[in-house]
Amino acid sequence: METKALRELLSQMSLKEKIGQLLQLTGNFFEEGGEITGPMQDMNLTEDDLWLTGSILGTVGAEKLRKIQETFMEKHPHHIPLLFMADVINGYRTIFPIPLAQGSSFDPAVSRTGASVAAAESAAVGLHVTFSPMVDLVRDARWGRVMESTGEDVYLNRQFARAQVEGYQGKDLSAPGKVAACVKHFAGYGAPLAGRDYNAVELSPRTFRDDYLPAYKEAVDAGAALVMTSFNTLDRVPSTGNKTLMRDILRDEMGFDGVLISDWGAVEELVRHRIAETRKEAARLSMEAGVDIEMMTPCYSSCLEELISEGTVAESLLDEAVLRILELKNKLGLFENPFKDGSAEAENTVVLSKEHLEAAQNAAEQTFVLLKNDDAFLPLCKKDKLALIGPHGDNPLIYGAWSIFASPKDTVTLRQGMEQAGASFRYAKGSPMLDNLRGLEMFKEQLPFEQDLEQKDALLQEALEAAKAADKVVLALGEFNQQSGEAASRGDITLPRCQLDLLREVSKVNENVAVVLFTGRPLDIREVLPYAKSILCVWQPGTMGGPAIARTLFGDNNPSGKLSMSFPWSVGQVPITYAQFPTGRSFDGESKEKYVSKYLDIPNKPLFPFGFGLSYTTFSVSPVTLSGDTLEKDGSLQASVTVKNTGDREGQEVVQLYVRDEYGSVTRPVREMKGFRKVTLQPGEEAEVTFTLTEKELRFTTINGEKATEPGAMTLWIGTSSETDNSAAFVIK
Ligand code: GLC
Repeated sequence: METKALRELLSQMSLKEKIGQLLQLTGNFFEEGGEITGPMQDMNLTEDDLWLTGSILGTVGAEKLRKIQETFMEKHPHHIPLLFMADVINGYRTIFPIPLAQGSSFDPAVSRTGASVAAAESAAVGLHVTFSPMVDLVRDARWGRVMESTGEDVYLNRQFARAQVEGYQGKDLSAPGKVAACVKHFAGYGAPLAGRDYNAVELSPRTFRDDYLPAYKEAVDAGAALVMTSFNTLDRVPSTGNKTLMRDILRDEMGFDGVLISDWGAVEELVRHRIAETRKEAARLSMEAGVDIEMMTPCYSSCLEELISEGTVAESLLDEAVLRILELKNKLGLFENPFKDGSAEAENTVVLSKEHLEAAQNAAEQTFVLLKNDDAFLPLCKKDKLALIGPHGDNPLIYGAWSIFASPKDTVTLRQGMEQAGASFRYAKGSPMLDNLRGLEMFKEQLPFEQDLEQKDALLQEALEAAKAADKVVLALGEFNQQSGEAASRGDITLPRCQLDLLREVSKVNENVAVVLFTGRPLDIREVLPYAKSILCVWQPGTMGGPAIARTLFGDNNPSGKLSMSFPWSVGQVPITYAQFPTGRSFDGESKEKYVSKYLDIPNKPLFPFGFGLSYTTFSVSPVTLSGDTLEKDGSLQASVTVKNTGDREGQEVVQLYVRDEYGSVTRPVREMKGFRKVTLQPGEEAEVTFTLTEKELRFTTINGEKATEPGAMTLWIGTSSETDNSAAFVIK
């Protein structure tokens, strides 16, 4: 439909009809026989309101959504189609590794493919919009939603944000197999005080602009059709009512002209934040901030008519919002085809297709991080007398907490993967998954928790028997998948005591232990280190995690992941990042001095740093060569190294480029990543890796608020983790 026709349509709509477009409800209100029950009354919604709604969330199924759309469009006075939205974060039914794992691949193509597969399956089941990518920068492992982010690094997150938007949307939203992306959570949600979800965020304007904004901007520049507000406050103003953030920064500065949707209930939560006394006041603040769609609360539907009639809110604000929503529906082609490409036939052929499952397995294999591998203990040989022990050994719930449409029956577990790989081994669960269900009671049915607790001793005995009879033990430990995700902050980020006890007891009878670590966040694994010859972090690897891990354990896949987020020595260090700032009392390494920036009881350095990961082979990196030693304004220089596979098997290495602005008008991070490249090398093969570093890429918010570089000395490193000392110097003119 032409924009002119959209404006024509808008002009024909009544005030109520326009307000209806801003309302988003869950699909159950509309499902056949769906009870128009309590929630509606609580929300002051009438039957008429319902048939004026603009969008629904959380309902999937091509036939179900077709029926809802047909019924709805018949009843709507202008037959305007509904938008169908849902959370497809790392896959619909074919579940990819969690985004924090995808970031560890250091290959944006992994996420582009993941988003493309997720879009294809989402479109097949009738969806139009996914509430993804989440691009919040995360540096606090206590926060459960770190699993949804691609990690702690500004530059890495930008590349993955762009890749995900491109994977979801392609070039044309109306094309089959594509859905609109909704970048979230705008803004700064990843830095809640004390790592506690939904808590206030206190960031300096400069840190916000230089570290937290870039990934959102990258996603907007990549064309993300929607942005979602965040629950948190920023500078003590809740995002959803923050006019400066939403109109001045998001729309005016960043040029976002798409649909801004609130997070679930976030408009009404302005009352709980106590910056609005009533739903009416919350509606006013959100409209003035430019929030177009209110998710799951009725402030707009119950108060906007009055606000506009009394002249408190200009009808032009409402018209703007409605037009953006109609434009989104138009870009999706819904006026011509309200069902887009959802169909039962597509659902049967596209969802969980062989190609998709293969893509998910390939992705998982790229994300695993080998943290320890003493004496090249891994890879194993299928002929080894093996034991697979641990509560994650045969656990089908190895997909992230936001895999809301996943089914455990689709998962290939580690045990099944090892069997499919032809290995013979004894399996023993060994221990319960958790010490207790505190905070996880709602997931009780997913874990045979009580039964495991009752049989704890028997489980351990069986495991010790298996360990005694084996040459080598694979110990599958880690977080239950619902221990990370939304509303899953943890103050203690160690493994459950029952799992640590299992590890210690097994290592007493068999010291040849490789730990496979399943987790949605960096953990404090100090107690694991001494008892494991190898530690392979597999995050939450998704539907095909089992075969991916098995292929890695047996050497058919050489792990190439690098940590997308530092593993702290202990929770006392968080938030932690390699990109920290100098202080007036900084020091390198260890210091015996009293009055320096350190702890009395723990080290400053993380247990494993950002960008770290081992391989089954080894690599050398030559000294850095530069194309020149000065960088002019708007100029660039090349920095190169030669990487060589010095081992005896093929491997991939991630070459990382870091820079430091030695002096500035404000303090500058001791290092910032400004490039990375993943290279595959055969044994003995070498390759030159060249980065083009631009002056533009080095700009920051200077003391006078400009985005610029400043003349002066720079240091550059190129290596295989954020701790590389392979450096060169240059100067910005
Ligand atoms: C949730 C999350 C958001 C999600 C939305 C819809 O509370 O914060 O990420 O997209 O609600 O489920």
